[in-house]
Amino acid sequence: MPETWWRGAAIYQVYLRSFADGNGDGIGDLAGLRARLPYLAELGINAIWLNPWYPSPMADGGYDVADYRDIEPVFGTLAEAEKFIAEAHDANIRIIIDVVPNHGSDQQEWFRQALAAGPGSPERGRFWFRPGDGDGPPNDWQSIFGGPAWTQVPDGEWYLHLFAPEQPDFNWNNPEVVEEFHDVLRFWFDRGVDGIRIDSAALLIKDPDAEPDGLDPYTDRDGVHDVYRAWRQVADEYGERILIGEVWLPDQERLARYMRPDEMHTAFNFAFLGCPWEPVALRKVIEDTMLTHAPVGAPPTWVLSNHDVTRPVTRYGRPDTSFDHGDRKFGMPSDHALGVRRARAAALLAAALPGSLYVYQGEELGLDEVEDLPDELRQDPIWTRSGHTDPGRDGCRVPLPWSGDEPPYGYSTGTPWLPQPARWAGLTAQAQDGDPASMLTLYRDALRLRAELLGDGDLTWLELGQDVLAFTRESGLICVVNLGADPVRLPPHESVLLASNPLAEDGTLPSDTAVWLR
Ligand code: GLC
Ligand code: CA
Repeated sequence: MPETWWRGAAIYQVYLRSFADGNGDGIGDLAGLRARLPYLAELGINAIWLNPWYPSPMADGGYDVADYRDIEPVFGTLAEAEKFIAEAHDANIRIIIDVVPNHGSDQQEWFRQALAAGPGSPERGRFWFRPGDGDGPPNDWQSIFGGPAWTQVPDGEWYLHLFAPEQPDFNWNNPEVVEEFHDVLRFWFDRGVDGIRIDSAALLIKDPDAEPDGLDPYTDRDGVHDVYRAWRQVADEYGERILIGEVWLPDQERLARYMRPDEMHTAFNFAFLGCPWEPVALRKVIEDTMLTHAPVGAPPTWVLSNHDVTRPVTRYGRPDTSFDHGDRKFGMPSDHALGVRRARAAALLAAALPGSLYVYQGEELGLDEVEDLPDELRQDPIWTRSGHTDPGRDGCRVPLPWSGDEPPYGYSTGTPWLPQPARWAGLTAQAQDGDPASMLTLYRDALRLRAELLGDGDLTWLELGQDVLAFTRESGLICVVNLGADPVRLPPHESVLLASNPLAEDGTLPSDTAVWLR
């Protein structure tokens, strides 16, 4: 690893609820995860990022945190989490947890106190309580999950929730809120956590009372950077603990501000994730990423999926291969074989780029989006809040298939909380293990070679035509991706290290194929 571990790390995202169930209740947990640590070590990752594992009523998959200093009983105990951190460290795997600072749960102690204390109280001052405007809410802000962003309480006041009503927003102008989260960071750093993924990081600073000033009223307000400067000081008290921002911003330059040397260490590259499978657009995203990250000294990150977005295999098989939260393209036909082919090529592209790499559980198995879940089982609040027009994100959160020929595929001895499709029988980790043509083997090979050969550093583009992305890395590795319809002649090389699909007999690179050359 170059310089510091996180600059070039491969980070595996665990959605605990759907990873592996250790006690047969159908819900993934720490016991299941601990039992599968050898699988993750063999995959060749450097760190695990876990989605929120705190006590939660689960109105939004745990992003409604009821207690920031404990573990959800369905997942395990605090003692078990500490054991898990130690075991991961023994396997040379770092642990990154999710901290949700924009909002808590309506079942959190502070919110209960706020409801009980009444209008004008200091307890309400930790949130955004306001009188209404006539009979309606204080302003016209809409929730990101659909519907109004305000909910009225029995005494007539309204509180702000940028997400679901069960997720009241904290008031970050209140010093108590600031102090509370510094303390939460210390709580977990004291328990050995190596990094923090900061949820909804651009949304913390808002002013619902201000007259509209032409700026977004709650996204990327300048004051938000003070929050992360202070967090960085807390992290630096502990040596090398890292801060990773979930910052959805179309403007890469604005995004880079979050990674100035005294703020976060890195942030997710959502421009890359949302980019269509199209050579000019992809090259532009990669170039912009490199250009905007260099001045702040932060390594780029490369992300193809997470628990909020449509699985790449499904995305890349559609006539429109871009991703956008505003239109998830649910039900748009997808050519599965084409999607798999492109997802394989995309994996080699992402893994060859300089910086850190994220792999969302199941991506390494080539899982597709499960779009045909029974409506009554859907859990994502987006489904109800959109008035059943947007089915939401459950389709990328279906429990993993581990072994066997039928559900629950070794995931659980009980009934999984979301049903797994019959078509996944060939996609279990067991079925793919040792198969040279499988997605799992491709990911294992790519991560192994990447750790040996790549990491941080620069890239140099090779010009092989407008349908081709080709670059060399300082180590001598050449990555060539053919996004056009016609085969492409490869540049001079000593050997082929890895290919996402077989090369043609004449040695050319077929359509939608990536290759690593020495
Ligand atoms: C982030 C999470 C998402 C969650 C939202 C609200 O975007 O990734 O899953 O619903 O924040 O906390
Ligand atoms: Ca369980």
